[in-house]
Amino acid sequence: MSNLLQTKWLGLDLRSPVVAASSGMTDHLDKLRQLEDSGVGAVVLKSLFEEEILAEMQQDQSIMQRPGPFFPEVSEMDDFLNNEDGLSTYLDLVRSAATALEIPVIASINCVSSQKWTHFARMIQDAGAAAIELNIFLMPSDFDASSGESFEATYFEIIREVLARVTIPVSIKLGYHFTLLGQTLQKISESGVAGMVLFNRFFYPDYDLDTLQIVPTNVLSTPEDLAISLKWIAIMAGRVSCNLAASTGVHDGDGVIKQILAGAQVVQIASILYRQGPGAIPGMHQRICEWMESMGHDNLDAFRGTLSQLQIKNPAAYDRVQFLKNYRSFR
Ligand SMILES: Cc1cc2nc3c(=O)[nH]c(=O)nc-3n(C[C@H](O)[C@H](O)[C@H](O)COP(=O)(O)O)c2cc1C
Repeated sequence: MSNLLQTKWLGLDLRSPVVAASSGMTDHLDKLRQLEDSGVGAVVLKSLFEEEILAEMQQDQSIMQRPGPFFPEVSEMDDFLNNEDGLSTYLDLVRSAATALEIPVIASINCVSSQKWTHFARMIQDAGAAAIELNIFLMPSDFDASSGESFEATYFEIIREVLARVTIPVSIKLGYHFTLLGQTLQKISESGVAGMVLFNRFFYPDYDLDTLQIVPTNVLSTPEDLAISLKWIAIMAGRVSCNLAASTGVHDGDGVIKQILAGAQVVQIASILYRQGPGAIPGMHQRICEWMESMGHDNLDAFRGTLSQLQIKNPAAYDRVQFLKNYRSFR
């Protein structure tokens, strides 16, 4: 593949800015090999959930009853992990993928607290992961949270605990439900993380009117879903102290080009892999290369962020005034 597409993400050298996002498409070595063969720059493994780690730790009451953070001895962990459980399986996947693939293998943990699970991040590093992505998923509908500040403090606690345990780069995947989204993202970017992935895709409920059951809807994105992350990558580019990755709604080469124009270092894709498989990747690369050649760009940095809010001549294009103008003129 052309080295037109080389880029950096979390300090890692990637041959392409197209990264396979964490999903069921990255939960098995065979699938990961196919993704590597298709040309992706890196893979993010399907998330292990904090609850899965804690549930397996519950089985060893002596560990759970110990006060304070958990710093197990290696021998204790050998007792705790057995070959059948989800944690061992996850570590095996990290280990086998890191050995078999040449592209970086990024592990993923979906978490909601800085509880005793964070030692597991170290085990992921020791298994060979090039980086760890933390998908921090706190519900903005938590009526027990005492304040927005305490809600946000949890993000920083998790980051602090994990960074204290690992030396590989850590990235954070977030939603957009924050009171002052721009400022919060800025503060998180200054916390020591190497990158932020904007944004998580939420699962929304719908109603089946025959069975009156609640069913998931819009599990897979469409290209129109690009809009929210495109806008926020463009607003945050140049204002954060870490790399930015765009996630949600990137389905083709145009989506990749737009996110890089906005300022993304890489994009992460999942839905298009569910719809078309890894076979979608070469066409995306071809479109990006053709577009770059038509514009006279010989590397991604040549146009990265050129349409971000800080770089365009009319930054108000991302502001309230633009919405007023568009709504008024819309017929
Ligand atoms: C079926 C499915 C499973 C997913 N599983 C995970 C997961 O385990 N961890 C995670 O961080 N994101 C997960 N995601 C979210 C994707 O990584 C991605 O952020 C989201 O789908 C938006 O990207 P897209 O528009 O390319 O699908 C999943 C998405 C789908 C559709």
